[in-house]
Amino acid sequence: MRLLLVSDLHYSLQSFDWVVEVADDFDVVVMAGDHLELASLVDGRTQATVIRKYFDLIRAKTELLICSGNHDLDSKNEAGEGMAQWLLGRRNDGILSDGESMRIDDILFTACPWWDGPVSKAEIGQQLRKAADDRESRWIWIYHAPPSKSPIAWSGQRYFGDDALVHWIDEYQPDIVMCGHVHEAPYVANGSWVDRIGETWLFNTGHYLGSPPAHIIMDTDEQEAVWFSAAGTQHVSLKEELTRPIPNLQALPDWLKDGDPSPVPHQG
Ligand SMILES: [Fe+2]
Repeated sequence: MRLLLVSDLHYSLQSFDWVVEVADDFDVVVMAGDHLELASLVDGRTQATVIRKYFDLIRAKTELLICSGNHDLDSKNEAGEGMAQWLLGRRNDGILSDGESMRIDDILFTACPWWDGPVSKAEIGQQLRKAADDRESRWIWIYHAPPSKSPIAWSGQRYFGDDALVHWIDEYQPDIVMCGHVHEAPYVANGSWVDRIGETWLFNTGHYLGSPPAHIIMDTDEQEAVWFSAAGTQHVSLKEELTRPIPNLQALPDWLKDGDPSPVPHQG
């Protein structure tokens, strides 16, 4: 299965256009939250309407898996905690979203919402407990915030990670967690786009202005992941230990070279 991960597009329509353009090169597209931009001059409801249209365009080409980020909250739950109601409305349209799990081939995917308080946090705990019963082999989570104290949560000055996620990773040891949220992490000293806790691989593409956005292409059969960004291209094998520093990629792996027309952006 070939998978594309992007995150934190923050209402960059050029970046959404790029995802639509390349979507059919992938079996699965994952968008790990912060689809909208709180500081935009375009109001939130209009942004949500536009982005839902983009989701439809991507979904028309391939599987689309999303979760909410902190910029996506548009309403409150009964406890007064922020939630992304506009994403929940996608449930009948074949897009995996907050609170849901789905199996594609032999991989179970679980999309977790951004939690804004103890009630929504407890709901994620219940969601993972329930989904764990359905796990047969590999399990991938889509979860906006990275785990605390990880290089993928490092902003250059402090960690912006999630303690609860660390606890759940320890408990369930999913194979992969796809995150976003900390835009700077891959581009600052002691930060990164990839980490490992126990057997679990963790990814955060990072974010910068401009298109195409930073992205990770993964082949779940080859068990390899390649990170493409304006700051360079790097590669890890999920079959090997993670060692740092991660070298820049010298040549595309065969599975990426030999596939469909490559969605790889120019390097610069
Ligand atoms: Fe973000």
